[in-house]
Amino acid sequence: MSDQQRDNFTVLYEIAQRINQILDEEQLLEEVLETAMSHLDAERGYIVMANPADKRGFNVVVSKNFSTPKAADESAASSSVINEVFTSGKPVLTFDALSDERFEASRSIVAQQLMSIICVPLRIREMTTGAIYLDSSRSRGKFNDESLKFLAVFGNLAAVAVENAQRYDRLRSENDRLKSEVSSTNLFPGIIGKSKPWKGALDLVQRVVDTDVSVLITGESGTGKELIARAIHNQGRRRDAAFIAINCSAIPEQLLESELFGYKKGAFTGANSDKKGLIEFADGGTLFLDEIGDFPVALQAKLLRVLQEREIRRLGDVESRRVDVRIISATNKELRSEIKEGRFREDLYFRLNIVEIHLPALRDRSDDIPILANHFMKKAAETHGRGVRKLSSGCMSGLLKHPWYGNVRELQNVIERAVVLSRGDELTEDDLKLERYSEEELVQSGMTLEDFERKLVEKTLSETGGNRTRTAEKLGVSLRWLQYRLKEWGGDAK
Ligand SMILES: Nc1ncnc2c1ncn2[C@@H]1O[C@H](COP(=O)(O)OP(=O)(O)OP(=O)(O)O)[C@@H](O)[C@H]1O
Ligand SMILES: [Mg+2]
Repeated sequence: MSDQQRDNFTVLYEIAQRINQILDEEQLLEEVLETAMSHLDAERGYIVMANPADKRGFNVVVSKNFSTPKAADESAASSSVINEVFTSGKPVLTFDALSDERFEASRSIVAQQLMSIICVPLRIREMTTGAIYLDSSRSRGKFNDESLKFLAVFGNLAAVAVENAQRYDRLRSENDRLKSEVSSTNLFPGIIGKSKPWKGALDLVQRVVDTDVSVLITGESGTGKELIARAIHNQGRRRDAAFIAINCSAIPEQLLESELFGYKKGAFTGANSDKKGLIEFADGGTLFLDEIGDFPVALQAKLLRVLQEREIRRLGDVESRRVDVRIISATNKELRSEIKEGRFREDLYFRLNIVEIHLPALRDRSDDIPILANHFMKKAAETHGRGVRKLSSGCMSGLLKHPWYGNVRELQNVIERAVVLSRGDELTEDDLKLERYSEEELVQSGMTLEDFERKLVEKTLSETGGNRTRTAEKLGVSLRWLQYRLKEWGGDAK
């Protein structure tokens, strides 16, 4: 073994050690080019990698000492050397590019007056995956057979390292994908649904979770508004503080005021001591105002103050107290029409509705019915100690046909009842005891036109979850007409 050979061997050993540790493909290729150039004292160099999308089948990925990366690319495009190496898979060494007959037709080599070119393939399992190209125009015959042997072996080492880096990269992105899949399914435990409309809503939820913005959750009754409000609190940074839920329609106005804001001793008869309001209890946490559409007009200005000034004043108190609460509200009413009718302050609406999350009706995400049904079946079977394990196909098609005006809550109730009453290990369509909303029921002989009108309005109202604006739209009548009729029929048609 000559000294030169021994030196090459040592260098190769060191290089192999070094490049095998680089897992980033681009960084690795730069190192490979750098090493090859410095060891062979080349003037310029570049590496191409196979690229099926490129019409030449490869493209330049790193280059050195070309005036521009494009110059290397153009040289690659026209370079018969690269083409030769790529197609034959064999290294090429040419001492005098000008007279080498293999490259006679190549104008680029002539134009650049190259004297010495060396080019080796990067090969993996008989396949050329790339090539290293080096040239030198300063001194003729700079590269020799030793250089070629060295570069050929080096090319083989580099090819393996590149393949490793590519594999590592693929594994890493696969791992990232799996991780994000796991986190998106586990982020909201107990919340079921993978239909497009539902995932769209969850995506919004995810984006507001870590913020303090006020969120208004809208959707028909039973679509999961409270469930989502709790999820926002439990996944967000306020999770360790209180989540206080208030149903604004269930508490009488006077009581609501003192419950929310608290009072000072003597503020009114019966106020025997100071009392902290629920808003103060929610300090640092989340205040969930459910059925916000029913929030009394008289109290709306006070609530607005909390949102704007971030402070509250207890009833009968002169002093204000700072509170840090995140407000999430929910409604199944059309707040815009409440505003038009003077029942809801527009300024409050804008404060509450920084982000609106609309939850789709179950009939608009029927893809989710099977997984929801299975989920509720398992839960109910466990709670009630029943042996039900599956839903028959008839049962499933019954579930899919049903209009679900009561949304997920109705589905949950139907399944729970069926599980409790079931005998076998499989639920059948009969077990569901679904009410039928059939056309025959709507049109009955002996009906007057007005009876029909009323039935149709009621049916549409229940389909829209009581939304008058949408009911009027669906029926092709004006909101005024609808309101007039409802009044005539005795207020609420429910
Ligand atoms: N995606 C879901 N995954 C699992 N359970 C759900 C889902 N959506 C709703 N539920 C369940 O359905 C029931 C109704 O949900 P929730 O009380 O949140 O609805 P809501 O929109 O607040 O209804 P309402 O307007 O009548 O107050 C709850 O028991 C809830 O756990
Ligand atoms: Mg609710």
